[in-house]
Amino acid sequence: MEKLLHLQTTDSTNSVAYQLALNGTKHGYGVLADRQLAGKGRLGKDWKSPAKTGIYCSIILRPKLPLYDFPKLTLTAGLSLCSAVEKLSKNTSYGLKWPNDLYYNTKKCGGILVESSIASGTSSFAVVGIGLNVNTTLLQFPIELRQKATSLYLQSGNIFDIRELYWLIHESLLTHMEIHETQGFESILTEWRKRDVLLGKEVEWVTCDKKVVIASGLGPDKNGQLLAKDRTGMVHKILSGDVQLADNPDGKK
Ligand code: BTN
Repeated sequence: MEKLLHLQTTDSTNSVAYQLALNGTKHGYGVLADRQLAGKGRLGKDWKSPAKTGIYCSIILRPKLPLYDFPKLTLTAGLSLCSAVEKLSKNTSYGLKWPNDLYYNTKKCGGILVESSIASGTSSFAVVGIGLNVNTTLLQFPIELRQKATSLYLQSGNIFDIRELYWLIHESLLTHMEIHETQGFESILTEWRKRDVLLGKEVEWVTCDKKVVIASGLGPDKNGQLLAKDRTGMVHKILSGDVQLADNPDGKK
């Protein structure tokens, strides 16, 4: 079977890949679309997917990992995306913002959405959805994103072949998955931490009871949960949610 389904238009590659995975499609199979009509981001946000300017893809994984490791896959996938992009541009300005964003300096250029189905036996899977702004010009971003988003083209002046880039990301994802499976999540974390854009920075987030907390980023712990220390010395563990640089409210997606 071909390992890639390349569609012109779809609602969301994650939804297509999820359905394929439910029907038994194998580890490593990918869905790539030229554009999405209802691209999904984390926390119920949407993902703008203008035609032929970015990578909108979803790759099915059947991890040989205990189920409690599945939530860590967002970080593994983020590292694989960052490594792929670094290879391409030999540029060290790319970084990772916990839990799922690829940044170039202070601007977001990609994001990960992992959707998993956890079942007993070998039928568990994860769909790793990757959105990457590749050849996007400033005017192709909606006005509200122009201050906070960027693309590989805007940072390098180069136009990239989307399919070639897809395969580079695909290879990087499968390689990093193997590292996660064989060497453990700590090996992933060691590399992830080197690219952490929130490390030592003032970050802020809103708690479940609607309190705004500001604290200094300490990086993800061994479970992939973000730690941050506030002025009283208290260390907070952030499970999920929208964490922002406290002095950069425009850095939001
Ligand atoms: C985020 O930063 O919030 C995650 C964005 C993930 C977007 C990608 S695009 C391909 C795949 N299909 C989707 O519907 N979403 C992901």
